[in-house]
Amino acid sequence: MKERFLVTSALPYANGPLHIGHAIGAYIPADVYVRYLRLKGKEVIYICGTDEHGTPISVQAEKEGVTPKELVDKYHKIIKDTFDKLGISFDNFSRTTSKLHYELSREFFLKIMEKGYIYKKRVSRPYCKRCKRFLPDRYVRGICPECGAKDQRGDQCEVCGKQLEPHELKEAYCAICKEKPVMKETEHWFFKLSEFSEKLEQWILKNEHWPPNAKNFSLGWIKKGLEDRAITRDLDWGVPVPLEEAKGKVLYVWFDAPIGYISATKEWAIKIKKPEEWKKYWKDKGCKIVHFIGKDNIPFHAIIWPAMLMAHGGYNLPWQISSNEYLNLEGRKMSTSRGWVIWLHDILAKFPADYLRYYLIAINPSKHDADFSLAEFKEKVNNELISNFGNFVYRVLSFIKSRFDGKIPEPGDEGEVKAIEEKVSKIVGEVENHLENFRFSQALYAGMSLASLGNEYFQQNEPWKNEEKAKDVLFICANLTRTLAIVMLPFIPFSATRLLEMLNIKSENLSWDSAKKFSMAPGHEISEAKMLFRKISDEAIKSFSERYLKAKEDVAKKEITIEDFNKLDLRVGKIIEVKDHENADNLYVLKIDLGALGNKQVVAGLKRKYSKAELLGKKVVVIANLKAAKIRGVKSECMLLAATDAKGNPVLLIPEEEVPSGSKIK
Ligand code: MSP
Ligand code: ZN
Repeated sequence: MKERFLVTSALPYANGPLHIGHAIGAYIPADVYVRYLRLKGKEVIYICGTDEHGTPISVQAEKEGVTPKELVDKYHKIIKDTFDKLGISFDNFSRTTSKLHYELSREFFLKIMEKGYIYKKRVSRPYCKRCKRFLPDRYVRGICPECGAKDQRGDQCEVCGKQLEPHELKEAYCAICKEKPVMKETEHWFFKLSEFSEKLEQWILKNEHWPPNAKNFSLGWIKKGLEDRAITRDLDWGVPVPLEEAKGKVLYVWFDAPIGYISATKEWAIKIKKPEEWKKYWKDKGCKIVHFIGKDNIPFHAIIWPAMLMAHGGYNLPWQISSNEYLNLEGRKMSTSRGWVIWLHDILAKFPADYLRYYLIAINPSKHDADFSLAEFKEKVNNELISNFGNFVYRVLSFIKSRFDGKIPEPGDEGEVKAIEEKVSKIVGEVENHLENFRFSQALYAGMSLASLGNEYFQQNEPWKNEEKAKDVLFICANLTRTLAIVMLPFIPFSATRLLEMLNIKSENLSWDSAKKFSMAPGHEISEAKMLFRKISDEAIKSFSERYLKAKEDVAKKEITIEDFNKLDLRVGKIIEVKDHENADNLYVLKIDLGALGNKQVVAGLKRKYSKAELLGKKVVVIANLKAAKIRGVKSECMLLAATDAKGNPVLLIPEEEVPSGSKIK
């Protein structure tokens, strides 16, 4: 029987776009692994979908002023599109708001309840009197009881990773209105996690192939003592608890989300019109289930989810949990709330997906946190991917085009062919070994060593000097480019596919093992010889950084309170006079009518964008209580608000309807 795998990546919350940390944390390594398994001829499916419940969704929806459903519809689409652009090859990308998922989650809950692993308990939980609701998970913030980190969310401490219950935070406050919550009684349903301590421990110890991070964390947690966990919440967004007496309560998002792996597999089976096929993965013994996740997801995948599966008893347990540490950005922890991130859609709009995949796999944070730096991104792509791999391929293919009329030559020296083929086969074996053991960066570099080998061999043998020797060299090197195309396919699928096209090789039914042999026969005609890559320029990095990183640093300004904001006297004013500034080419001196506040003078850099006539009579937005200052010798008493267009010119903010001069803005 073929070896069978079910590979999953953590279900991303549909509460925002994806950033580079997500990409390397849980998706690119899984995609590399899956593409490799497919080439090895294994039976494999790759399953994922968006996680669309819980407070991560409802809090963000409140922030954006939309319903949770509108929010997840929007981001499901954006996220799916980004994965396509990044070349993530899911067999199914589902959603946890599907009908099938609701049914399966309910059934799962009822089954383990029936088996006695769920019980009801009266508890007190934080409640916000001003918002008139309980404050589950991310609705409450405060100090982590474990490590003392400030401003943590009620579900998990971002600093120490500790799993939290909303009532455990110290100095808690409502995430929406900042009010201090009171404790109020409510009923919740608890999962008897504590009963699984021993079984989990034995199971984890038996899993000798697990990486140390998942293993150590879980064993450590078991040692400290597992406690029963509430799996319901007082919230109106989520899978309703399937009990009459639990009206108004939903399942905790981390209860339903992992069940999403199963429901997304079921959905896949329905889509391929073999509705029973999912059982081969979740029920038949011997299927290896591999979860790819970032480290903050370890407690759920290594402890809680397996315990849920043990309680249910009807499904396979995970075989492997491949978890990555964190990716930081230019030496700082990434933070979406502070805007310190590179969004995938931004970087993928400017650079080929394979460049990003290459760099991220090269620095893959498998054992330690890694740091993304734009300068290093450029350097690794230019000096490794392009100078080594791209250069070798281009040298070989263009030589064959120009000297051998595009046909693979017949080698004379069989001994030499065999010798190099053996070396190559050995290296391919090394790549394989690394991949089977989830060492993605090492696998990439072992693969790249084939290009180094090729470049050195080509250089040393100087095929341009001797026609006979050239036949050996080009037969060998052409075959080596084929090997490279196959071996690099999991890492840089777009470029490797393009290389296969240039080599005139069909990408269907390619096998990994065939990369170990020089099977491209003499006389085989290649189709073209083009450059695979273009180097990244300093200019490209600079403009990307200016646009997406410097700007982000501005956004990352410190939070202010409503009182801080109220200090601003924002008004609508009318421009009643425009004069040139005598000492500056791009400045005007404007007179603004602020109604009851009288007229004020302002110096503004609007000349590159607006003529005097365009400005005169316009209603604009003004900070009226700015301390007066002299700008190039002229007094300026307030400030106009403007956005910036793509060229960096100011665009004035104008009230949408006619309002009197001096109107206050709140
Ligand atoms: N919805 C949960 C997962 C549920 S799985 C049943 C979740 N979603 S997430 O959108 O916050 O994160 C998606 C994945 O990206 C997670 O595995 C997370 O660990 C990973 N990462 C998020 N930021 C990361 C970095 N900066 N670095 C590495 N991985 C990161 O968690
Ligand atoms: Zn509140």
